[in-house]
Amino acid sequence: MSRIAYVNGHYLPHAHASVHIEDRGYQFADGVYEVVALYKGIILDEIGHLERLERSLNALRIKPPVTLPVLRLLIREIQRRNLLQTGLIYLQITRGVATRFHPFPDPPVPSSLIITAKHMKLPNDAIVQKGVSVITIPEMRWPRCDIKSISLLPNILAKQEAIDKGAYESWFLDAEGFVTEGTATNAWIVNEKGCIQTRPTNENILSGITRKTILDVAKDLGIPFVEKPFNTHDAEHAQEAFITSATNYVMPVTTINKKPVGKGVAGPISIQLRHAYLEKMVAENAE
Ligand code: PDD
Repeated sequence: MSRIAYVNGHYLPHAHASVHIEDRGYQFADGVYEVVALYKGIILDEIGHLERLERSLNALRIKPPVTLPVLRLLIREIQRRNLLQTGLIYLQITRGVATRFHPFPDPPVPSSLIITAKHMKLPNDAIVQKGVSVITIPEMRWPRCDIKSISLLPNILAKQEAIDKGAYESWFLDAEGFVTEGTATNAWIVNEKGCIQTRPTNENILSGITRKTILDVAKDLGIPFVEKPFNTHDAEHAQEAFITSATNYVMPVTTINKKPVGKGVAGPISIQLRHAYLEKMVAENAE
């Protein structure tokens, strides 16, 4: 079945969907995005993602092209037209099409909205048990990582460096050597005391929607947690480590800079959180 994309009011075959060459997203990365996961037909944490999209738009003073209820309808229509069960919906909004000139277009032009769908095969238990490898890399992004901007060049370079070194993800380290987050994931450890630890949110990291849900899951399960930065030494001596995102849910990290974390296999808390996350998502998001 061929994929269908939404582009500024039109549903088009994915292969032929395009935007204008002077779209400010294309020329300046002047836009924002969201990735919303679908699991067995259920849209996960949709409101959280759409509220964050609104915050990103406000921060960049980009006018929302449609209202939130309309956006929710469009997401369902793209899901329906793509027969999407488990996968991702990608939403991107840019400041629109205008002759290339750095300031905001004056008078303003309509913002551009695209929505695409992607099917995703979930990793099997053996792959999750094996976990993923992470490397660390100096932070090189701007100080407003809380905005989900489409300007992702440092994230791309850091992710490619991970791939080039045989790893899955890079964790950025701030000037004091503390982990900020991954290139497209939030970073966590289960520290030496058995307490889940992740950096508190501020302008230096993306306030992950999965991150917030995992803190709720930990609360539900009575697992202690602390929002406190950790460094590479803490991570290398942790009992467990894991990453979270809409695309990875909870994925165990089993090596950091080629050194095994704990026993070098997925830890029990990471696995418990992964299962509990999906159970909570199904229970809370089924329509
Ligand atoms: N990335 N940190 C960064 C830098 C991210 O790009 C993401 C998400 C996260 C996790 O956020 P959430 O739990 O809301 O997905 C943290 C998406 C999935 C992406 O860029 O593909």
